[in-house]
Amino acid sequence: MEKLLPSNKIITEKAKGNFVFIKKKRYFDLSLHSGVLLLGHNHKVFQKTLNELRKNYSLTNYQNKNIRSMILKYIKKYFRNAYDLIFCTTGSETVIKAIRISRALSNKSKIFIVNGSWHGSVDQTLYFSKEDLKPIPLSSGISDDIKKNIIILPYNDLEKSKKILDRNYKDASCILIEPITASLPLEQSKNYLKFLKEYSSKKRITLIFDEMVTGIRTTNGSVQNRFNIYPDITLAGKAIGGGLPISLIIINRKIFDRIKKLKRKIFFGGTFSGNNFSLISCLNTLAYVNKNKNLVRNIINKSKILQDKLNNFSNKNNLDVKVYRFDSFLRIIFSKKNIKNRIARDFFEKKNKIRITKFTKYLYSKKILYPKNGIIFLSSTLTSNNVDYLVKNLSIALKKCFK
Ligand SMILES: Cc1ncc(COP(=O)(O)O)c(C=O)c1O
Repeated sequence: MEKLLPSNKIITEKAKGNFVFIKKKRYFDLSLHSGVLLLGHNHKVFQKTLNELRKNYSLTNYQNKNIRSMILKYIKKYFRNAYDLIFCTTGSETVIKAIRISRALSNKSKIFIVNGSWHGSVDQTLYFSKEDLKPIPLSSGISDDIKKNIIILPYNDLEKSKKILDRNYKDASCILIEPITASLPLEQSKNYLKFLKEYSSKKRITLIFDEMVTGIRTTNGSVQNRFNIYPDITLAGKAIGGGLPISLIIINRKIFDRIKKLKRKIFFGGTFSGNNFSLISCLNTLAYVNKNKNLVRNIINKSKILQDKLNNFSNKNNLDVKVYRFDSFLRIIFSKKNIKNRIARDFFEKKNKIRITKFTKYLYSKKILYPKNGIIFLSSTLTSNNVDYLVKNLSIALKKCFK
């Protein structure tokens, strides 16, 4: 078997479509830059963007108002209650600034976050918890003071969440949630989101959906459009930028009006916020995805085929794994039990660490790069033959390692 290179030794020489090239050999890339490359590597839209930038643009501090309003027009399709945008560069930056907005509007310090949601490299959200829901920092270097303002809700547990909300809502500014968690993509979160929506409206707490992963790669454009449940603030990025760094804080009319009325203004600036390189890439990507109406549907269909075939194979062979999916992204969970939360997922990942390494090595020998964070993304350039190849080799690898 070909030796798996440690990830810091993997040097990709070039990339095209679904593939990266390592030492002149072609490997399936199932990560696609953590979901950024919805259209695959080096797509013609990306090339068009680079050509435009080369000929016509330089970085200037003057945002092109036309491009900005064209982007907003598309964003309103993907996030139906969008009213205005604040441009940022990374997902983490949007999280920091969205929490800032909610605190500025409420003058309250505490925030509700939800177990299993991921919000990037932000001290205020870099916590996880076990069943007792006590916040445990995921990194050293985080000030102890921060913990005092964090209240963790159990994802999809409506009853327990209500009790915690009732005890704490008077001191809280926002509820921040990844509506469908990439760490465990579960379909059945709609009721929980509906409950959070109703609760936050009643108690005047800002509801923030982090749709960094789900934005533009979901049926109807987003989780909120698909479920018809709209937050006050949405965070988006990744695929929207088409390969260049851009992220958006999308606010509804109510938040827009309340921000306008504030006596002390909220600071939103950033050197690369809304830079015209990223704006052009974002606009070209949104225009292309919007024009090609079946593009996302096709990725979703292929993701479903991959999920169904792997789950049928696993059932038939009594393998202790199950593939979970939300529309266009998938995750293999290393237990056939019905997993309900991140805590259980982590338990089985830890238990199967050695088998997962073996699985990853086998796939590497078959020229498939299994994502380090376990989230599988497919691109619009994937063919049916590609899907067959993935089904065949992932099935063999699962049987070898999880029988
Ligand atoms: C849901 C979600 N929110 C926020 C972030 C943070 O984004 P960034 O890494 O661009 O700061 C990520 C990154 O993976 C994410 O998946």
